[in-house]
Amino acid sequence: MTRLQGKTALVTGAAMGIGYAVAERFIAEGARVVLADRNAAAVAEAAGALGPLARAATMDISDEAAVAAAFAELEAAGWTPDVVVANAGVQLFGHDAPAADLDLDVWRRTIDINLTGTFLTVKYAVRALLSRGGGSIILTGSPTAVNGEGRDFTAYSASKAGVHGLGRTVAAAYADRGIRVNTVQPAYTETPLVAAITDDPDSRAAIVSRIPIGRAGTPADVTGIMVYLASDEGSFATGATFSVDGGMTTL
Ligand SMILES: NC(=O)c1ccc[n+]([C@@H]2O[C@H](COP(=O)([O-])OP(=O)(O)OC[C@H]3O[C@@H](n4cnc5c(N)ncnc54)[C@H](O)[C@@H]3O)[C@@H](O)[C@H]2O)c1
Repeated sequence: MTRLQGKTALVTGAAMGIGYAVAERFIAEGARVVLADRNAAAVAEAAGALGPLARAATMDISDEAAVAAAFAELEAAGWTPDVVVANAGVQLFGHDAPAADLDLDVWRRTIDINLTGTFLTVKYAVRALLSRGGGSIILTGSPTAVNGEGRDFTAYSASKAGVHGLGRTVAAAYADRGIRVNTVQPAYTETPLVAAITDDPDSRAAIVSRIPIGRAGTPADVTGIMVYLASDEGSFATGATFSVDGGMTTL
């Protein structure tokens, strides 16, 4: 499996969950991968587990200085990426809420990471990709951006709607310079992010009942589309959203 031979990828939020699975799969496909995360210890351990084709970078995507410094360090080390997966995100269970009950602080914390942080990742990714003559940017979206699935998570859902819009805008702006931008939209995928659902049998049964295929997603379910979009096989795909949701958005 060498569909990503010769590529250097950067994946944010790669210490665990979907980001880690994507990093692991990209390496299996022959890429070098920078695992970036704000959790320094966890990302160092994660990169260590993946061997010499993996490299750790500590960066909080909501901090522009940290993002700029991480990209500069990669350039100096000869690891400028030509594939960037802007995947890091948070969902503040127990705090995010329907609009009338949502604290401004919770809204701001969510938007700061999920939307502003994705923008900052994309900003420096575009600069890096331009220096490499083009490449692929993949954003992690959510069905909550497009339907009522996230009705109790106003901040999260709005932040993801912003991510979907950002992807289309940046795709249009840079298509003629060899940069493709696409959004992958997983549904309920069992990772540490959604432990509040996974660990509660009633909540878990309720969400699985809204997935026509009849099971929860796994991080591995999301990696195949990421490989396609990162590789040259996806060279005519840009500005699009790819659902991997067991049919959840058909309901
Ligand atoms: N799990 C799901 O059901 C699901 C569904 C749809 C979309 N998503 C999206 O997929 C992406 C990955 O989610 P996951 O389920 O793997 O989550 P996760 O919580 O398992 O992992 C997220 C990782 O992102 C890191 N992170 C959080 N904030 C960060 C920041 N400011 N800077 C850098 N790193 C940061 C965390 O440290 C963690 O390692 C997120 O954007 C999430 O919104 C998840």
